Amino acid sequence: LGKDIQYYKEVISTNNQAKFAAQQDAGEGTIIVSEAQTSGRGRLARGWYSPAEKGIWFSVILRPHFLPQEAPKCTLLAAVAIVKAIETITEIQVGIKWPNDILYNKLKLVGILTEMNAEMDCINYIIIGMGINVNIQKNEFPLELQHIATSLAIIKGKKISRVQLLNEILFQIETLYNIAQAEGFVKILEEWKKYSVTLGKTVDVIGINDTFAGLAMDIDADGALLVKTKAGIKRVLAGDVSIRAK
Ligand code: BTN
Repeated sequence: LGKDIQYYKEVISTNNQAKFAAQQDAGEGTIIVSEAQTSGRGRLARGWYSPAEKGIWFSVILRPHFLPQEAPKCTLLAAVAIVKAIETITEIQVGIKWPNDILYNKLKLVGILTEMNAEMDCINYIIIGMGINVNIQKNEFPLELQHIATSLAIIKGKKISRVQLLNEILFQIETLYNIAQAEGFVKILEEWKKYSVTLGKTVDVIGINDTFAGLAMDIDADGALLVKTKAGIKRVLAGDVSIRAK
């Protein structure tokens, strides 16, 4: 991982750039990293604030041999890797909100956007795009983000080395990805559960087809969230989940 690192001052979105590279046959493990994104993308057609030199905005190209249904678990893998790297480098303990938001005190620190290109039962490539708010100060966030987002520098009260953190993240992703390829995702899902701030909480789910509330009980072997509702247990593979304040 990271033998080929493509570094940019500015791109539209590292995920777009990675897609382009993947279509030009970039190999597995290629990293696209940029100081700034002019149009960083989030999940559910949202944007991602990506100011120059204040965060880690990057994407990884993977070409795994497993089935397309396994791809969502790569997002969980990336979340676990980032949590571990943040703990190692900054000693800050963070939590994961299903599927892939990394939070500190309910504020968003990291977002992950996974995109896949597959044909029939074969994955051509997976792009995992990760945005880590590193050295953004509170008053630098756009107003609408100030009460929902945070950064490592805000939490720590000092600047954090982005190079050191990115290095550690790449090491952690590589380690977990090797485990996943060799023995599947069981261990990774167990670790994900340890860091989860969703399980055991009452959640509101905006699913693809419906909206409901219930108790987040567990994740299954596919990484889907199992929510106990009045109508029985519902399985959520994609959607927006918010944790209810008690
Ligand atoms: C989300 O929480 O909605 C996902 C945010 C993902 C942001 C990262 S930044 C690097 C990569 N390039 C993008 O355009 N998006 C992802």
